[in-house]
Amino acid sequence: MYTIKDDLTATLQEIRDAGLWKAERELTSPQQAHITTTKAQAINFCANNYLGLADHPDVRDAASAALQEWGFGMASVRFICGTQELHTRLEASISDFLQREETILYSSCFDANGGVFEVLFGEGDAIISDALNHASLIDGIRLSKASRYRYANADMDDLRLQLEAAQGARRTVIVTDGVFSMDGYLAPLEQICDLAEEYGAMVLVDDSHAVGFVGDGGRGTPEACGVMDRVDLITGTLGKALGGASGGYVTGPAEVVALLRQRSRPYLFSNAVAPVVAAGSLKAIEIARDADDGRAALRRNTSMFRELMTEAGFDLLPGTHPITPVMFPGEDGARQAAQIADVMLEHGVYVIAFSYPVVPQGQARIRVQLSAAHSEEDVRTCVRAFIAARSEVLGTD
Ligand SMILES: Cc1ncc(COP(=O)(O)O)c(C=O)c1O
Repeated sequence: MYTIKDDLTATLQEIRDAGLWKAERELTSPQQAHITTTKAQAINFCANNYLGLADHPDVRDAASAALQEWGFGMASVRFICGTQELHTRLEASISDFLQREETILYSSCFDANGGVFEVLFGEGDAIISDALNHASLIDGIRLSKASRYRYANADMDDLRLQLEAAQGARRTVIVTDGVFSMDGYLAPLEQICDLAEEYGAMVLVDDSHAVGFVGDGGRGTPEACGVMDRVDLITGTLGKALGGASGGYVTGPAEVVALLRQRSRPYLFSNAVAPVVAAGSLKAIEIARDADDGRAALRRNTSMFRELMTEAGFDLLPGTHPITPVMFPGEDGARQAAQIADVMLEHGVYVIAFSYPVVPQGQARIRVQLSAAHSEEDVRTCVRAFIAARSEVLGTD
């Protein structure tokens, strides 16, 4: 007799056999530069805690105070009885930081990306999307009835071809991650904006891996690329540099945000962000705005790590973003990267290996993520652990 249990057991085994099983390590500490897991103490080089705000004392204090003042839950969507002054202030603070007219909060950036396209782009419109965009953009775009076009990652010739193909559409939007999270590469926003202007298209950037720390003032890839006033819509997360709890947003023209409040399904049919999270995120943004020292520390740590690893003969993808992929190319690369990551944990350094299908075949890597919370000694320890693990696994110095 058919049972779903047997059927799924077979599927689960296939995932294990293919080496694609994602096991979860339980942390027994807060999310910090130094963490403990049930098995080890380690320096953490795989969180999105770029500015070290996930466990910042002021963020914790703001969240605890909010728990007392505003309670634990909202038990409502925003438009029924789920909007507190905190939510309005958080939206205003994001608009002000990112220099946009208005902002709408979602429970996550996954929801923001899931809720934005269907409302703004329908039949007769065109959405042109980078091939390496985040899964949530891909899913959100699928929900829209607009025609869909895809261009090869950051390939401006291909983007032009797709813009040509989309001509005649009522509204056209180019959609890109600000930073591609497996490579740490920034999208070429200046060229994207040039093409958008030439073809009368809008630009939407998901800046989840940039907001708070990329750009001199931490305003993300539009700032870093000098196109703050040429990007139409920005989506982003509160779940990485900006406190790392949860929540996402769309920020842009007031009319866009007003329409999203009326029609965007993940906003209309999902609970309001919890007060504790709203208050902690507000504080995190306040800190991030003034975090020139934190951004400088992050840049220092990143360039020191890149220099020391290059000196030690590792193969890194080029760049300046704190996402630093250490490459293990070739047929055996996936196994090598996984084993090296395991051995590094024994040396007190927590990193994660990524292989196909998360990254292209033959391009396995360990993705190191630096944080402003790392000390210089933490970074040196990480490099030493890489060298020791390479020698143990590959027998090379
Ligand atoms: C580019 C990008 N967009 C969206 C998300 C989803 O963000 P959230 O965790 O807020 O749902 C992520 C997180 O992995 C991301 O990297």
